[in-house]
Amino acid sequence: MARAHSVGYKEHSMATAEQVKALIRSHAEGDDSRFYAIAMQVAAQAARSGHGKFAHELRDLVDQVKARSKAIEPARGPKPVPLAQPRGELVGLLTVGYPKTRLVDMALTETLRSRLERVLTEQRQRDRIREHGLSPMRKLLLVGPPGTGKTMTAAARAGELGLPLFSIQLDGLITKYMGETASKLRLVFDAIQSTRGVYFFDEFDALGSERGSRNDVGEIRRVLNSFLQFLEQDESDSLVLGATNHVGLLDRALFRRFDAVLEYALPTAEIAKRVIRARLGMLDTSAVDWAAAVKAAEGLSHAEIAMACEQTAKNAILDHSTAVRDSELALALEERRGVSATIEGAAA
Ligand SMILES: Nc1ncnc2c1ncn2[C@@H]1O[C@H](COP(=O)(O)OP(=O)(O)OP(=O)(O)O)[C@@H](O)[C@H]1O
Ligand SMILES: [Mg+2]
Repeated sequence: MARAHSVGYKEHSMATAEQVKALIRSHAEGDDSRFYAIAMQVAAQAARSGHGKFAHELRDLVDQVKARSKAIEPARGPKPVPLAQPRGELVGLLTVGYPKTRLVDMALTETLRSRLERVLTEQRQRDRIREHGLSPMRKLLLVGPPGTGKTMTAAARAGELGLPLFSIQLDGLITKYMGETASKLRLVFDAIQSTRGVYFFDEFDALGSERGSRNDVGEIRRVLNSFLQFLEQDESDSLVLGATNHVGLLDRALFRRFDAVLEYALPTAEIAKRVIRARLGMLDTSAVDWAAAVKAAEGLSHAEIAMACEQTAKNAILDHSTAVRDSELALALEERRGVSATIEGAAA
């Protein structure tokens, strides 16, 4: 760095202000090799100005840290994940998680399960598929009512494939960065390209619903257009998932860009029963009136059923019991239905 060398000789012994700033900047950008290079530069300068001990310690420290980060990489799989936490400009655009959720944790229709399995198979064998000039399914649009497992599916994709889950809240992105959403979106797609992971665009409606409406001018339209363009150009190894509640509002142009559209629905009686069994697994359910419970669950989402089960389980714990009383579950479900109906009434 010419700049560092040109400062007064008095400062040569220690890191210059410029070097300290460069160190912090390279750390924030996750640029490890630049970070090490600057540290070595500081060491070299210290050695030149007679601070041999400090120079030596600094070099040793850099070697140690480098060796340690190398040793960790293979354990993480063939491709290390440089974006363990979003850094630099990505902070605030993405949140990251490492979910443990599995497909077996979900109560799904056969159709949905086999389609989701299929995506996993293609991902696991993606090298073979690519060798033949084909591409594995990796852009999925999840459509369905609230609480039916869309977000959970994104988590299970990541959990099954051992990938980080990056969530992007589109509505937040648009309101927060009004005027520069498209350039923020580019940053996200750069990350999709550089760091393999599951990228989940929740609240997709934020883009779709406005197209063609009277708010059509300006920002939202530009954002949707750049999203479509980025999505089309994206040939990375990441999975890109979008989720929405309102299929009717979405644009045809959007559908075309996805490899598959997966439809989620309220649970059938059979699926409702499976959600309940899974949720009350630790309790004795032999006394449960299943017919009444299933009837009470009608019209409730997976999420609402899960919440009613949690309430039931808590009741049992507070009763110092390990069994669910026959009417208890149905009652909790009815209660949920009451809440659900009130909300729907208010929304209508
Ligand atoms: N198919 C399912 N099987 C088992 N549990 C489920 C399923 N779907 C939802 N749940 C339960 O409900 C919770 C909420 O579901 P999730 O967040 O996936 O819903 P969503 O479809 O993303 O809803 P929203 O449209 O409101 O975002 C999950 O964490 C899980 O406990
Ligand atoms: Mg969700």
